Amino acid sequence: MQIAIDGPAGAGKSTIAKKIAAAYNMTYLDTGAMYRCIAHCVLNQIGDRFDNEDDIIKIAQSTVIRFEGNQVFCNEKDVTQEIRTPLVSRHTSDVARIKAVRDLMVAQQREYAKDHEVVMDGRDIGSVVLPDAQVKFFLDADVLERAKRRKIELDEKGNGKALAEIKNDIEKRDTNDRNRSEGPLVKVADAIVVDTTGKSIEEVYQEMKTYIDEVCR
Ligand code: DC
Repeated sequence: MQIAIDGPAGAGKSTIAKKIAAAYNMTYLDTGAMYRCIAHCVLNQIGDRFDNEDDIIKIAQSTVIRFEGNQVFCNEKDVTQEIRTPLVSRHTSDVARIKAVRDLMVAQQREYAKDHEVVMDGRDIGSVVLPDAQVKFFLDADVLERAKRRKIELDEKGNGKALAEIKNDIEKRDTNDRNRSEGPLVKVADAIVVDTTGKSIEEVYQEMKTYIDEVCR
């Protein structure tokens, strides 16, 4: 079985995808982490030069991304924490808009789905990566609530930022993700929309479980 979960930043995709994967004995693939790895490698190798597409593509071609449980390895270095910094978050949409980078990531994601039962989350899973997925969800939430959730995460990591700044960053990322020509964030016609605003993880999970069980039956 394949489950696709798309939606904007902070809608709760990864939390719920992990929960579903554990409950249904499936593998979770965090595709956002893959784009984050490329942005992180770019920052390390050529610095803040995100207008340099040719170099970014070369870096993406030479980067080996590997998942091990909840850890993410980039060229065998554990980058689980580093890829979550506000700097990497801000620049990930700069690499994710490049067609050659997306083609490389999408090919790896499809390869992975060939021999795993996967729950994949991202922006283009239902539309591009797994168009034949048995269940497709589009998770959404009010932008202020998404910013508040992100603030709690950042505060826990000691990366304290003002709520207004976080909301602004999220809105910018959403705009970039929705408006790029390659693999934009879209709700496909056969996706089930789940609005997570004001709902607990358990409530969202139960709502999604109903749909999954319907398909599995
Ligand atoms: O889900 P996330 O916040 O970790 O995603 C980080 C960035 O990567 C975000 O700007 C959207 C982009 N992304 C993408 O373009 N395609 C995906 N399948 C997953 C993430």
